[in-house]
Amino acid sequence: MAEKILIVDDDIDSLKLIGLMLQRHGYEVSAANSGSQALVKAEKEQPNLIILDVMMPDMNGLEVCRRLRTNERTSDIAIIMFTAKTLIDDKVKGFEAGADDYLTKPTHPAELASRVKAILARRAAKQETAPPLPSDNLKTRGLTIGVVGAKGGVGTTTVAINIAAAAVNAGDNPVLADFRLGQGSIGVALGMIRTQSMSKLMALPTAELNAQVVENAISTHQSGLRLIASSINPRDMLAAPNLENALTIVRQLRAISKLAVFDLGSGFNPYVAKLHNEMDKLVVVVEPNAVALSIARELVKFLDEEGSGGKINIAVLNRAQSSLQTSWHDAEAIVGRELKAIISPAPELAFQAIESKVPIVLLQPSSIVAGQMVKLAEELRARVRPLAGGQLTT
Ligand SMILES: Nc1ncnc2c1ncn2[C@@H]1O[C@H](COP(=O)(O)OP(=O)(O)OP(=O)(O)O)[C@@H](O)[C@H]1O
Ligand SMILES: [Mg+2]
Repeated sequence: MAEKILIVDDDIDSLKLIGLMLQRHGYEVSAANSGSQALVKAEKEQPNLIILDVMMPDMNGLEVCRRLRTNERTSDIAIIMFTAKTLIDDKVKGFEAGADDYLTKPTHPAELASRVKAILARRAAKQETAPPLPSDNLKTRGLTIGVVGAKGGVGTTTVAINIAAAAVNAGDNPVLADFRLGQGSIGVALGMIRTQSMSKLMALPTAELNAQVVENAISTHQSGLRLIASSINPRDMLAAPNLENALTIVRQLRAISKLAVFDLGSGFNPYVAKLHNEMDKLVVVVEPNAVALSIARELVKFLDEEGSGGKINIAVLNRAQSSLQTSWHDAEAIVGRELKAIISPAPELAFQAIESKVPIVLLQPSSIVAGQMVKLAEELRARVRPLAGGQLTT
């Protein structure tokens, strides 16, 4: 049966043009020329996909999108936002409102067709996905997520903390471990500065790092988040990285915990070089400017050559509110990868989280940034399924 697409645009010419194009690709097409009409038709016709113009006089597309998502009869319908705007911030707004994808006008017919096809295929695959495996299966080999910054100061630690905190809420009881010896900002951010267990583990002979020793090094934050923090003693930065110990710690944590999240610092540093193979997922954090994005591109290329390309998830953390950000499409073009997450600017919330020593996702769960972090965390956890041989697949 042909898949149904509802096109929503106040411009009749656009409706005709897009409608014809999609009909030619074999879709069953219907149209609405206002937001309110779209809401009625979506509920009645139950289309597989809605293509939604942002700028409409009666109700803008973002509002329509939000309403579709809050109505349980329309909440699962795929939505592509369609607008003349190209800035990254508008794309963020679209995603916040619940859109699955975003197209800018004018769009090349081939691009429209391929996006539509991709979204519908993704939806179909999602509906066929088996329910999550029982947690017992995961226990035998926990999931490891490494977070690495394209460069320093882009928000790597914030992403690592919040992915782990989101997993606490989801009941995964993760361990968050900090490999930034001498710059252990996780301990500071969570008010656990005296817990410098990573530095202590690094100083032990590798043979002594058994499961019990590693488990004993774990402290628990008031939120329930378990962590192995590093010191902020500058001297620790001078010591040669103890990579054998780092490797053993990762393997022990994987054996004793369902999920372990690692702050690996930035760039292809010795820890990243040694540990990227051990990670099931790598999150590369970057800012939306040409310098950071270009550096990210080279890091991604390199990780690809080293065999870890398939694990990479790009997260753009947009710390500064500015109308001069690189657009989503340009950012993807520079990095050469699909962006997995965009984290909106929230300087005050980020500050409050550090002041109160509570991760953003727990401090203000209803905030936009918390929602974005939770979504990223969910995707990272959901995409990996252990196979019988202990291997993982995405
Ligand atoms: N969404 C956000 N909006 C604004 N500021 C943010 C946001 N997320 C994090 N920050 C702030 O940005 C700063 C840098 O973040 P963070 O320490 O996570 O970066 P980093 O990449 O780990 O830095 P380093 O390379 O020094 O380890 C912090 O002050 C943090 O509170
Ligand atoms: Mg950091």
